[in-house]
Amino acid sequence: MSERRPLIAGNWKMYKTSNEAAATASELAELVDDADHADIMVAPTFTGLDAVSLALNNSNVSLGAQNLHWEKEGAFTGEISAGMLTASGVIYVIIGHSERRQYFGETDETVNKKMRAAIEAGLRPVMCVGETESERDAGQTLPVLDKQVRGGLKGLVSEELTRLVIAYEPVWAIGTGKTATTEQAQEVHAYIRKLLAEMYTRDLADATRILYGGSVKPANIAELMAMEDIDGALVGGASLTADAFSQIVKF
Ligand code: PGA
Repeated sequence: MSERRPLIAGNWKMYKTSNEAAATASELAELVDDADHADIMVAPTFTGLDAVSLALNNSNVSLGAQNLHWEKEGAFTGEISAGMLTASGVIYVIIGHSERRQYFGETDETVNKKMRAAIEAGLRPVMCVGETESERDAGQTLPVLDKQVRGGLKGLVSEELTRLVIAYEPVWAIGTGKTATTEQAQEVHAYIRKLLAEMYTRDLADATRILYGGSVKPANIAELMAMEDIDGALVGGASLTADAFSQIVKF
């Protein structure tokens, strides 16, 4: 593990009503009350944000959102702006999750617009990148990540990226029970950090937290966190119960 402060983030995807989300958040806040070694975040659905924000009040768990739109307001039916998120107490926002890229047509260009909107609103963006199984099999993992990182950060300067978080989530490891080996993950994390140093500065690369995501569980978090360039985790399935997620927080 590095000197960067770990971030353990839960992505609740399209699970939990607002009441259910608030109940899990309260339970979690209590279980991790004594955990001060890491930043902790949970991202409920939009309808759960206000209730979860209340439930997390005075806790050491921060509120995250799973998506946003890049415009401030307007005729964009079904969309949510950065300002609406901050008004609900949101601190972090997940951008470009592979499910959004796969099922909702997100591209590096839309990810880039969302990154800009999030940063302008003072949100901490968690930008997701990751290769598919066929890309990995074709030996394209690093070129794919190169394109996603450069595309997502296009036009953004170092001063805007002081709160940047990147999540490396191999698509083939999400919700499948297959985790990348710690060596596979470390290789990609080190590559992304080197890329950030090339694109920006060594300082920015060293300060950026790079999370691993894809079937993270209480049983595999410790070995992942032992790797030099893994600074935390973005957890889906295992974040849905306060008990499992608190064990991951306490890796
Ligand atoms: P998983 O999801 O932990 O259920 O694999 C991770 C994610 O999609 O962020």
